[in-house]
Amino acid sequence: MDNINPDYRLIFPATSRNRDSIAEVLSNYISRNSLILEIASGSGEHGVFFQKKFPSITWQTSDPELVHRKSINSWIMHEGLYSKMPDPLNLDVDMRPWPITNRLGALIKGIVCINMIHISPWSCTRSLFEESKKYLDQSNFLMLYGPFFRNAKQTSESNLNFDQSLKKQNPLWGLRNLENVNNLAFENGFILDNVIDMPANNLSVFYRLK
Ligand SMILES: C[S@@+](CC[C@H](N)C(=O)[O-])C[C@H]1O[C@@H](n2cnc3c(N)ncnc32)[C@H](O)[C@@H]1O
Repeated sequence: MDNINPDYRLIFPATSRNRDSIAEVLSNYISRNSLILEIASGSGEHGVFFQKKFPSITWQTSDPELVHRKSINSWIMHEGLYSKMPDPLNLDVDMRPWPITNRLGALIKGIVCINMIHISPWSCTRSLFEESKKYLDQSNFLMLYGPFFRNAKQTSESNLNFDQSLKKQNPLWGLRNLENVNNLAFENGFILDNVIDMPANNLSVFYRLK
């Protein structure tokens, strides 16, 4: 899915297609001067885009893959954001506890996870909720973005095919059922704040702690 530039910047083509619509929904949740932790930042293209879009906040990226963290740093340098954006954290959601200092933990006002829960085992979704709740309070948010199955709605052909192709790569991967994700959220003390239909059969799902 990636092309490598000599300076380690990766290009994930979907990011330029979905970043405007994601920024628009995020703008209703992000408050000034806050710090947002992004899980599974991938190439870092979203990170630098959101940092520029919301200049008063701090966008803290993370990813467990070294090649991704190098790309994130390259994008930060390329966009001249090195004095504003911290280095990406080496954070694997399933390696607990997360490597978050008390100082950083106290600053987090929102956690954003784009296109990860279907490309990782279900245990990662579980860890995401179980760890996230340690860093959030009722006024903060946890946002998931990606394709989902929904009980009451027919799944698009493209999402069915995507699910099959993911399962071929790894039988533990695949689109998640929104209702199952919601139940996991509820077990962890979250309430569902909003579900927003996004372009290309994706959803933005916002949770808050009760
Ligand atoms: C499809 S990419 C999405 C990247 C980026 N969020 C985007 O939308 O372009 C999936 C990302 O999930 C990350 N990932 C996979 N397993 C993970 C885990 N256990 N913890 C954190 N990130 C993980 C991968 O390293 C990769 O960056």
